[in-house]
Amino acid sequence: MTDASSTPAIPVTIHRSDYRAPDWSIPDIALDFALGIDATKVGAALSVVRQGGAPVPLLLRGDGLTPAAVRVDGEVWNDWRMEGSDLIVDLGERTAAAVEVDTVIDPASNTQLSGLYASGGLLCTQCEAEGFRRITFHPDRPDVLSRYKVRMAGDKAAFPILLSNGNCVDQGEEGSDHWALWEDPWPKPSYLFALVAGDLVVNKDSFTTMSGREVELGIWVRGGDQDRTGHAMQALKDSMAWDERVYGREYDLDLFNIVAVSDFNMGAMENKGLNIFNTRYILADPDTATDVDYDGVEGVVAHEYFHNWSGNRVTCRDWFQLSLKEGFTVFRDQNFSADMGSPPVKRIEDVRLLRAAQFPEDAGPLAHPIRPDSFQEISNFYTATIYNKGAEIIRMMATMVGPERFRKGTDLYFERHDGEAATCEDFVRAIEEGAGIDLAQFRRWYEQAGTPRLKLSLAEEAGHWSLDIVQTVPPTPGQPEKQPMMMPLRLAAFAMDGSGDALADTLVTVTGATQRIALGKFAARPALSVNRGFSAPIIVDFERGSGELAWLAAHDDDPFARYEALQQLMLDTLVAAVSGKTGDHRAVIDAVGQTLAGAASDPAFVAEAVLLPSEAFIGDQMVTVDPDAIRRERLALQAAIGTALETKWRAILAGRAPPATDLSSKAKGGRRLRGVALAYLAATGADDAPALAFRIFSDADGMTERQAALATLAHGDSDERIAALDIFYQRYRDNPLVLDKWFQVQAWSLRGDTVDAVKALAQHPDFTLANPNRVRSLYGALTGNQAAFHQADGAGYTLIADLVIALDPKNPQTSAKMIPPLGRWKRFDEGRQALMKAELERILAQPGLSRDVTEQASKSLLG
Ligand code: PHE
Ligand code: ZN
Repeated sequence: MTDASSTPAIPVTIHRSDYRAPDWSIPDIALDFALGIDATKVGAALSVVRQGGAPVPLLLRGDGLTPAAVRVDGEVWNDWRMEGSDLIVDLGERTAAAVEVDTVIDPASNTQLSGLYASGGLLCTQCEAEGFRRITFHPDRPDVLSRYKVRMAGDKAAFPILLSNGNCVDQGEEGSDHWALWEDPWPKPSYLFALVAGDLVVNKDSFTTMSGREVELGIWVRGGDQDRTGHAMQALKDSMAWDERVYGREYDLDLFNIVAVSDFNMGAMENKGLNIFNTRYILADPDTATDVDYDGVEGVVAHEYFHNWSGNRVTCRDWFQLSLKEGFTVFRDQNFSADMGSPPVKRIEDVRLLRAAQFPEDAGPLAHPIRPDSFQEISNFYTATIYNKGAEIIRMMATMVGPERFRKGTDLYFERHDGEAATCEDFVRAIEEGAGIDLAQFRRWYEQAGTPRLKLSLAEEAGHWSLDIVQTVPPTPGQPEKQPMMMPLRLAAFAMDGSGDALADTLVTVTGATQRIALGKFAARPALSVNRGFSAPIIVDFERGSGELAWLAAHDDDPFARYEALQQLMLDTLVAAVSGKTGDHRAVIDAVGQTLAGAASDPAFVAEAVLLPSEAFIGDQMVTVDPDAIRRERLALQAAIGTALETKWRAILAGRAPPATDLSSKAKGGRRLRGVALAYLAATGADDAPALAFRIFSDADGMTERQAALATLAHGDSDERIAALDIFYQRYRDNPLVLDKWFQVQAWSLRGDTVDAVKALAQHPDFTLANPNRVRSLYGALTGNQAAFHQADGAGYTLIADLVIALDPKNPQTSAKMIPPLGRWKRFDEGRQALMKAELERILAQPGLSRDVTEQASKSLLG
């Protein structure tokens, strides 16, 4: 019953087209837990009802379980057998039965963090996607919905707090033990089951819903952490009000609990009435959390809360429909965060994330449509494609029909499918009918992987200008040929001489492989502002001179489009330089200088706009990525901008930082801009830069400034770097979330010895493979550091492959997430290709690999 043996590496491919409705439904489940850290007894009583006419055995999935006893209708039952790890119970002619199965599990040895596990003395569960079968035998598929009654009992000293879904309906004591009975009135799939037992303190509050019901809110954390839960609580109340106002959705229980745990594979989990969170997305105070961390807390709290409707009340029929809940819920949390802060800045951040995480996935060996056709291990499909591209596809529907009609569509969806396990097709049909739009062609977004490209050119006839579009969708694994997609394209056109001719913001629908759009009459070639607001998640190929881009960066009336124009100008400059053409930095410097003029009124936007594109994104523009040249030329441009505008950077830094307790968009923007200014100043190599960074580090009244200064120092070679790293470590060594930052800034460093530094840090006494946050903060940061990870001798690849191999037996889900960077080998030169493939092969040669790692590594090797 060890963890390793519970995930056999037999690659079985599951196909969406094989879906069959369940043979048995389970209207009610009663669970009885006798809690112990290394032995928990689980008694499960399932009321099962046969769905079809003919007798069929009951298939209950298990993972690492042995049945201690099986009873049917109260009698000991012997008509069962194990098939692999599953339990097959033969119920003969019965059409309904009460099936009881007892098992014993060991939470302390559950290092996978799926099922029931121990985290810092706490017992907690994680059941999505297929963790419930690690607790008890069950069909464990999302289209089997049941009402749950949960009894748990345990030592009162070890587990003073006992929580599960729904409401606590009774509790009592028996000697040194106590027990609690929880009931959830809403039928739910097993992946939404949750239980928490341990020593926790609570921040309590309440929310009155739009119909006047009082909901008790609780955020449960370890003693000492309660002072860092205020932001999460405010975000929860804001989310509850927002979902009522924007979607008309009210909360449906008297209690809403959140528990924060330190060891968690993902960000958080939307269990009904009992969300379980990675501490990283709950705990925040100005001394330990950056503005980015604060926004993360707000966004994830909202995301999980919104799942109560998009995910829980309407759930997924099968895991191929995962984007039904995830894409829609990301779209909802993005709009919530935009409403809580600056919409253009939020859009810029979301698009940056899409380009950084999803575009490479869509262009590589692991590309899949937002509704995949097959998988081996569902845990590998919690991807940027399912989540972020999924959100973009919902956004396009909303853009095409506008907010009122979109709301009619979602109202119909929630009303029609409430209490059901639905499909992506159900969602599209509800939007189609509710909003009144034909989405026949649009459905291809659910079927075809790959990022569409629009090649654009302008044509003129007798003073009338038009836009010619050629659409292609690239081949992806298993999909050599593609059909053109339907997409909303927002555009505008301006006369650069200021003559007054302009085409105001217009929404066109692109459907064809080729299409011509009339722009109107212009005296000269107009400046085209296209894909405004990133109305479609595509790549636009459009040859434009630096003059036109600079003009748009300064004059476009859409802030997102101004950002895009400046980014394109930077990209063009960098790609030219990397390809050996003489780099002319002038146009970029002028445009950055111009943009900085708006720093006082909108610092948040300006900070985003003047940031150079990442090394990885520059690489994505090239036929063959040259990580060393990219680093060199990006640093050169950064130094040139730093030097040319040095007085401006110094002026920004000479001002006072907004107080760390001020979390307004403007204050956050001000801090972000100071961080950017410091990086530009440091890039000049000015003698006083390390001392200035160190002073900012030391004087900082909060983590945003402190971390930005530390990160800047970490790139360099100064005594201040060593001092700051040491001070930071000593000050925060007992705070795991802040210590993660200490590992992270070192793995992000642009120094030449970063791979060796990461290798050494992996031996640090505070490093552990047992905690996913710590693993990501070191190794995840390294894979995001392009020139370091792709160091020509392959040392970065070896380090990651060693990690995958060492982590797989403990935590296959987190281990498998480290593989995709190795799978991008096709994008690199032959030398690197060979080294990357060799590491993938070395991983695959390991005996006893998990299904998770086997699937990711073998698909990655295929290229
Ligand atoms: N469903 C969670 C979310 O998106 C993510 C998650 C998946 C968490 C699997 C744990 C395990 O909110
Ligand atoms: Zn989610």
